[in-house]
Amino acid sequence: VGTLGEADLRGKKVFVRADLNVPLDDAQKITDDTRIRASVPTIKFLLGNGAKVILASHLGRPKGVTPKYSLKPLVPRLSELLGVDVVMANDCIGEEVEKLAAVLPDGGVLLLENVRFYKEEEKNDPEFAKKLASIADLYVNDAFGTAHRAHASTEGVTKFLKPAVAGFLMQKELDYLVGAVANPKKPFAAIVGGSKVSSKIGVIESLLAKVDVLILGGGMIFTFYKAQGYAVGKSLVEEDKLELATSLIEKAKAKGVALLLPTDVVVADKFAADAESKIVPASSIPDGWMGLDVGPDAIKTFNETLDTTKTIIWNGPMGVFEFEKFAAGTDAIAKKLAELTTTKGVTTIIGGGDSVAAVEKAGLADKMSHISTGGGASLELLEGKTLPGVLALDEA
Ligand code: 3PG
Repeated sequence: VGTLGEADLRGKKVFVRADLNVPLDDAQKITDDTRIRASVPTIKFLLGNGAKVILASHLGRPKGVTPKYSLKPLVPRLSELLGVDVVMANDCIGEEVEKLAAVLPDGGVLLLENVRFYKEEEKNDPEFAKKLASIADLYVNDAFGTAHRAHASTEGVTKFLKPAVAGFLMQKELDYLVGAVANPKKPFAAIVGGSKVSSKIGVIESLLAKVDVLILGGGMIFTFYKAQGYAVGKSLVEEDKLELATSLIEKAKAKGVALLLPTDVVVADKFAADAESKIVPASSIPDGWMGLDVGPDAIKTFNETLDTTKTIIWNGPMGVFEFEKFAAGTDAIAKKLAELTTTKGVTTIIGGGDSVAAVEKAGLADKMSHISTGGGASLELLEGKTLPGVLALDEA
């Protein structure tokens, strides 16, 4: 994809598609501004080079115009981070937007209202994309978190607005999630967790072709254990994925990948923060108990193995880290990765979703090489899929 700096920016109106889909509480207060902060370098670069920035994003999944999904609550934080008074439009297309864009000074920022207030956005309607494009001179896509959606503001708009290039965040995400994964410093380890193997099949299969070590944790391990004939008690099992689990184990063997499943687990008598818990061997979970975290022996083995690696990608928690009692496995991985990044120069990539939340909860977010801002987008990239938002930039 083309990058910033290739186009002459002074006085140009730049349509920047960012992913400002941040969580808001009931009082419309931002509860996590990571995505806003991640969008700042590109916008600042444009402003610093005398461009006029027209900023667009979606927020949530509104059906039509819905005040609760307005981007207005983002204006103060954006203004503060950018050091300019961001002007907010009441719409993302139409006369008012055209007028505001026309009077925007060099170095000014106009934030458009939620593009998903129009169903045409998700339908990738060409007429709508053309209207979005009509107010700008060039297009920058920095919305990595939305790059897996072929929508008007992420894909369609590139047909009408050229040059169309990637912003710095988009570039960084691709450098790590595509570049570092395709050409890793070896040994290369992947840690995959999460509750269901069904949602990680694509990722596991794709990573099996690349990694030297695959560590599995989270609720999905019980499907693997059951497939191996272990007693799993009342742990979560996907009965229709038992054969798949066996075939993944065989694939790992055939490819010479060291597949590590936890040797011990923390079991609970119920799925609750205050459940009774104990540590048992993974091969013999007692009747009536369910596994909610990996055990201390497993953590020790995982850590020793990770010590030998140079690149690590992590997607999905090791246990039910939302409950303090069952957070030790996930916390241990977060700590280990932070230590390896800062003391041994290991490249560590946190691939979106719950593992990002876990790293942030542990206060280690600034200790990793890269933390993805995309959930679905990073998962699809790791599955080896091409993202429409990225493909559109390539073609443009
Ligand atoms: C996300 O939060 O993953 C992105 O902003 C994409 O949102 P969507 O899943 O509603 O398309």
